[in-house]
Amino acid sequence: MVSGVMTPELHVASASAVEVANGARALTAAATAIRVDDVSMTYTVGRKGKRTVLQNISLEIEEGECVVLLGETGCGKSTLLRMLLGQEPPTSGSITVAGKPVERVDSRSGYVPQRYSLFPDRTVLENLCMGPETSKAHIFGRLMPGFRAFRKTVRAEAMRQLEHMGLHASDAAKYPHQLSGGMQQRVAIAQALMMKSRVLLMDEAFSALDPATRASLQRLLRSVWSETKPTIVFVTHNTAEALFLGTRVIVLRRESREDSCGSRVALDMKLPAAGMSLHRNGKEFLDLVEYIESFSRGDHQKVSSDGDDRDGSAFEAETTTVFPLDGETL
Ligand SMILES: Nc1ncnc2c1ncn2[C@@H]1O[C@H](COP(=O)(O)OP(=O)(O)OP(=O)(O)O)[C@@H](O)[C@H]1O
Ligand SMILES: [Mg+2]
Repeated sequence: MVSGVMTPELHVASASAVEVANGARALTAAATAIRVDDVSMTYTVGRKGKRTVLQNISLEIEEGECVVLLGETGCGKSTLLRMLLGQEPPTSGSITVAGKPVERVDSRSGYVPQRYSLFPDRTVLENLCMGPETSKAHIFGRLMPGFRAFRKTVRAEAMRQLEHMGLHASDAAKYPHQLSGGMQQRVAIAQALMMKSRVLLMDEAFSALDPATRASLQRLLRSVWSETKPTIVFVTHNTAEALFLGTRVIVLRRESREDSCGSRVALDMKLPAAGMSLHRNGKEFLDLVEYIESFSRGDHQKVSSDGDDRDGSAFEAETTTVFPLDGETL
């Protein structure tokens, strides 16, 4: 058993253990939830200008992974999330979720943004029920027999989700402006879970909250993930949050500021599904934070032994596995 491999040096030293671990994982391979195949995104700027935001991104995310996307501001994290959701198509390449191409926003993925995702003129309960009710029946369908019973079931489920998120039954009748930011984000998560989506896309969902509320929502999300193992893609700027929530960390980075140069995957790293924290892991945790952040800053551009950029690109994805594996705890 290999344990506590946290630093780049140790990672290199344990290459054979990584292979063994990868082999073990292959035996229990989960189905692919999200496949991003050679995706690039170029926006038109002004009359003729073009700006490439993402360049040749390829990712395979298995069902039940909690992938945290990191990278400096403007590197394209939200753009990638919007494409996974189906809000905008990539300029080139393809994206599939649950084996089917993503063409529009649909119930395969739930989305939780930083804030303001609730309808302000609807109560909490109405916000929660809206998705399932709309997907079941349009306006005339609501007159059909069976809709009342369906509605009753949806309401019961909404109340269950509300309680699950730590809110009171009496909050169901409140409007979003009557809730704190933390309560609103709890409702937003419940809203996404109401659709029973297997994929949850969260864009800095906790970053507008005070530290204590943020910590309690991080714990809540971890417990949701442990219970039902949805596939999560979570965008954050906070590396500590990434290590607490994620089973895998992906860092996007632009190699240069030129408009033709989009972000690529600078680091793609598996983490133990144990919820790392400074409290529990001390120096190892801090070393790992520093290691991940060095990819975001670009300190880890690969240079060949003669000092020249490798392939002239000096930029290649680094894929590593952080131990422990096989259920060993940190
Ligand atoms: N519709 C658009 N048209 C033109 N440029 C866009 C559009 N949407 C995003 N961009 C540009 O793409 C780049 C990446 O934006 P994006 O919002 O994905 O970054 P981000 O990594 O989420 O940043 P942050 O961490 O600040 O949220 C930015 O330079 C942004 O200006
Ligand atoms: Mg963003």
